[in-house]
Amino acid sequence: MARRPLVMGNWKLNGNKAFTKELIEGLKKELADVKGCGVAIAPPVMYLAEAEVALAGQDVIALGSQNVDLNVSGAFTGDISTEMLKDFGAKYIIIGHSERRTYHKESDEFIAKKFAALKTAGLVPVLCIGETESENEAGQTEAVVSRQLDAVLDTLGAEAFNGAVIAYEPVWAIGTGKSATPAQAQAVHAFIRGHIAKKSQAVADQVIIQYGGSVNDANAAELFTQPDIDGALVGGASLKAPAFAVIVKAAEKAKA
Ligand code: PGA
Repeated sequence: MARRPLVMGNWKLNGNKAFTKELIEGLKKELADVKGCGVAIAPPVMYLAEAEVALAGQDVIALGSQNVDLNVSGAFTGDISTEMLKDFGAKYIIIGHSERRTYHKESDEFIAKKFAALKTAGLVPVLCIGETESENEAGQTEAVVSRQLDAVLDTLGAEAFNGAVIAYEPVWAIGTGKSATPAQAQAVHAFIRGHIAKKSQAVADQVIIQYGGSVNDANAAELFTQPDIDGALVGGASLKAPAFAVIVKAAEKAKA
């Protein structure tokens, strides 16, 4: 079954108002003709208003966010709700990023609750999973990604992954310049799809599994030749319009 790839930019804690406008103007020019690849960007939530305005009148680039809270409103100081994200037209919402798991001690169970909140709100969860370097060296990659997936599968069922996105991001590859090789990534992507297929083949066949971790304009095309790599979640290389555009176009070409 053909899956439409999705390339998403995770801007992390970068930019300001002017940068947001400028980068989006650059992306709109570079990506105007893209048809065969979904594209999304997740600026810091502070700049969703600028991003929404800059993205108006085009339908190639969708808006997203890097995080969301469980609660919809009330006494939750500092948090941001699904309804607020929807108010700005955000659609693809990253949850479970390793930086949130590490710096904010987010657990698998907590992230599964965020997944549920996004499904209830009609938003698309982009669920990040992946092993650390020591887990990788100890041969625990499959056990770790299974545990991270099971937190959602066991509470919400396989159907929750209908229309959702998984981003496999080995922690040792994030921001290090040391991407997984296409073969390494493909092996884990096939395992992830197979893990979901144990519950539902149909859900596994349609779920988008992005690779993330030091994806750039030089290594993207080869990663996308792999059958189970359906696009990428891009950090550093998403902050420059030309590099990000090369990655999007590589996905479009590889999956045509
Ligand atoms: P990177 O980040 O592309 O800078 O490695 C990817 C991510 O953390 O989503």
